[in-house]
Amino acid sequence: MNVNSSTLLVAVPTGPLQISDLPPHSAGIVDQDIYFSLIIPTYKERDNIHNVVKILTQILDESIPGDYELIVVDDDSPDLTWEVAQSLTNDYPQLRVMRRQGERGLSSAVIRGWQVARGRVLGVIDGDLQHPPEVLTQLLSQIAQGADMAVASRHVDGGGVSSWSAIRRFLSRGAQVLGLIILPGVLGRVSDPMSGYFMVRRSSIAGATLNPVGYKILLEVIGRGNIQNIAEVGYVFCERKEGESKVTWKQYVEYIHHLIRLRLSTSQLGRVGQLVAGFPMGRFLRFGLVGLSGVLVDMAVLYLLSDPSTLAWPLTRSKIIAGEIAIFNNFLWNDAWTFADVSMRQQEWHQRLKRFVKFNVICLAGLVLNVLVLNLVFNFLIPNRYVANLVAIAVATIWNFWVNLKLSWRVTDVK
Ligand code: GDD
Ligand code: MN
Repeated sequence: MNVNSSTLLVAVPTGPLQISDLPPHSAGIVDQDIYFSLIIPTYKERDNIHNVVKILTQILDESIPGDYELIVVDDDSPDLTWEVAQSLTNDYPQLRVMRRQGERGLSSAVIRGWQVARGRVLGVIDGDLQHPPEVLTQLLSQIAQGADMAVASRHVDGGGVSSWSAIRRFLSRGAQVLGLIILPGVLGRVSDPMSGYFMVRRSSIAGATLNPVGYKILLEVIGRGNIQNIAEVGYVFCERKEGESKVTWKQYVEYIHHLIRLRLSTSQLGRVGQLVAGFPMGRFLRFGLVGLSGVLVDMAVLYLLSDPSTLAWPLTRSKIIAGEIAIFNNFLWNDAWTFADVSMRQQEWHQRLKRFVKFNVICLAGLVLNVLVLNLVFNFLIPNRYVANLVAIAVATIWNFWVNLKLSWRVTDVK
C-alpha cells in the first residue's frame, strides 16, 4: 500500500472523554474553525470505507463545500481499515484518520473523534452504509433551523428497518422498553434512542465528561449534555453491503450496565422535570377516559357472562373474555381519538393489526403489572384492597399509556 508520509494519522487523545468548547489546535492544519465534523467509527470495514468516504464527500461537497471534515476512528482493525482510509487522504483532503491501539469500543471511538474534531457541529455515522448518507442534508438543515441535536430515527415518518429478523426487532424494542423504565428522562426524549446516526452542537456537550459503555452513544450525549430541543428525521436502516454487524450479546449487557450507571449518575430530578414539562397530559387524559370506558365494558360483559341471573359462566373464563373485549374497546377509541393524529397516517389494515397486537401485548403486560402492584401494595403498604387496587390501576395505566405512546402509535414500516 503506497501511503504518502504526509497523511499522518491523527494523534489519539487520552484522559477523560470530554469535549472542549473550542476546537483543539490541530498541528499542521491551517484553517481551524469549520462547521461540521463527521466521525466514522470503524472496525473491520476495509471493503466499505472507500465507498463511504466517496459518497459522504459527494453529499457534503454539495451542501457545505470546504466547511466539513470526515474523521475515521478505527480500532486497529485486523483487516487494516485504518491503512485503507489513510491511503484515501491524498484524494480526500478533508479526511482525517485515527488508529486507536489501546482503548476500544464504538462509543469511546466516537468521542475520541469528537475530541480532535474542529467543527461547531459534531456528528456520527456508521462506516458500513447502513445509515443512508443522504439523510445528512436533512439533519444539517434541522441544526441550521435551530435544533441542538438532530437524530436519524427508524421510528418516525419515513423511518423503518429494511429486513431485520424478528429476534433483532424484538431485542431492539425490548431494549427500548427497558430504557423507558430505567431512564424515562433520557429514552423518552427520542423515538429511536438506539440510533447511532445523529449530530449535535458542540456547545450542547462541551465540558460534559462522557462516560459511555458499548454502542449507545446517543444515550450518553442526551443524558449528560445540555440539549434543549431535539429534531428527528426518518431513515430506513439499510442492508449491509460488505462485512457483518459486530453486535453481540455483550452489547446488550453493556447497554443495561450503561442505563443503570447513567440513571445513578445523572440528576434525574432535572431530567424528570424536562419529562413532566414535555409530558403529553392532554393525550394522557384522553387515554385515561378511554380506560374508564374499558372498565365499564369489562364490568358489563362480566355481568352478562358470569352473573347467576344471566349466563352464569365460570368467573375466570368470563373475566378473560370481558378483559379482551375491554382491550379491544380501548384500542378502537385510542386509535380513533387519543392517537388519531398518528394512526390516520397509517391506515393500512396490516398497520392497524400491528398496532392492535402491540396494544394487546402491552395491556396484557399491564394486567400482570396491575396484579403484582395490587398484591405488593395490599400485602405490604395499604391493607385496603380497593385503595391498593386504585394504586395498581394508576400504575398500570401509566405503563400502558407510556409504552403504547412510544411503541404502538409510532411509524415502524419501511416506506
Ligand atoms: N472504532 C470502532 N470500535 N468502531 C466500531 C466498533 C468498535 O469497537 N464496533 C463497531 N464499530 C463500527 C462498525 O465498523 C460500524 O461502522 C459501526 O460501528 C456500527 O457497527 P455495526 O456492528 O455495524 O452495528 P449495527 O449495524 O448492528 O448497529 C448500528 O446501527 C444501529 C442503529 O443506528 C450501530 O450504530 C448501533 O449502535 C445502532 O443502534
Ligand atoms: Mn452496521
